[in-house]
Amino acid sequence: PAFPLQQPRKASYKIYSEDENGEMEWEKLGFGPVSTDFMYSMKCCEDGNFVQGNLTHHGNIEFSPFAAVLNYGQGIIEGLKVNRKENGGLLLFRPDQHALRMKMGAQRMCMPSPSIHQFIHAVKQTALANIRWVPPPGKGSLYIRPLLIGSGPVLRVGPAPEYMFLTYASPVGNYFKVLLYLNDKQLILTSNEIELYGLLIKLQGRTPLSLYVEEEEVRAFSGGVGGVKSVSNYGPVLKALVRAKSLGFSDVLYLDSVSKKYLEEVSASNIFTLKGNVISTPPTSGTILPGITRKSIIEIALGLGFQVEERYISVHELTEADEVFCTGTAVGVAAVGSVTYRGTRFEFKVGENTVCQALGSILVGIQTGLIEDKEEWIINI
Ligand code: COI
Repeated sequence: PAFPLQQPRKASYKIYSEDENGEMEWEKLGFGPVSTDFMYSMKCCEDGNFVQGNLTHHGNIEFSPFAAVLNYGQGIIEGLKVNRKENGGLLLFRPDQHALRMKMGAQRMCMPSPSIHQFIHAVKQTALANIRWVPPPGKGSLYIRPLLIGSGPVLRVGPAPEYMFLTYASPVGNYFKVLLYLNDKQLILTSNEIELYGLLIKLQGRTPLSLYVEEEEVRAFSGGVGGVKSVSNYGPVLKALVRAKSLGFSDVLYLDSVSKKYLEEVSASNIFTLKGNVISTPPTSGTILPGITRKSIIEIALGLGFQVEERYISVHELTEADEVFCTGTAVGVAAVGSVTYRGTRFEFKVGENTVCQALGSILVGIQTGLIEDKEEWIINI
């Protein structure tokens, strides 16, 4: 194998899903940083080409305070999941699409990018080097985070003189699960509301999402970077996200920046509505992230005979929708139980016999090797 064979060192952060004997408690995984054994990095020379990368122990990285990514946000992220098959093999879902999306984003952010081959090689190496962190089938995934960053120093606004491509990994479960420590005791809260020492904490587990329509702040605007996975897309959503969570909502649903009438996306996922046999989702015309899960769900839905429309969806159409759901690599396919707009709560069908559940099961089935991969989306590693 191309990765170092030394004994993996103990993870540097507290792994909050370990039991007293250091064994992973996979079912307790949420979506938090669990530091694994190895990461992979490659540097880009002045000629714009990335040179042979290598695996090192997962750990802190050092930059000049002048680094372009730190000062001016010149960076792109990706996110992919590796799943374990029943027979122990590892499966990677559409890595070529993620590599291509990083290339598009890099162009927008004026950065060189690794080739498709280099990207996939890095992801594979990271997955194999951290194989012990891939959860057993049905218990979660190993999330691989590729980062492309302007690592070289700048002061005047301009592109960095050096770039770094890095992939690291973390085992993950449900994106919306919340783990809480109380006097060092770990509590896993998956219900909607928990009364705890007089505090009312509203948390989301596998329960349907409750979204809050944000009217003040916007996520993206025409000509901006909403359509690429720039690191700078996520900081600006935090204020609205924290506010919505403090009001007991799971996440924020953003509207377009001009008319504030049309649905855009959720903090870390795309949005879909269903009415009868018609599935609708906003078009990727610059302000919407072209999600790989979004694209896959559209293809699966078309194959099942649904009509799929990529079009502007007015917030008022929510009054008529049968179902609403979110898609994303991290989020998966997540049912939305309610959307609150100007104090009115619209509710949608969730649970058994929903289209959301059917589409989600097919996608997960393909991703975990339980359903035949007719489209060749899967790479066995
Ligand atoms: C993903 O879905 O993989 C993402 O990158 C979203 C992330 C911001 C959690």
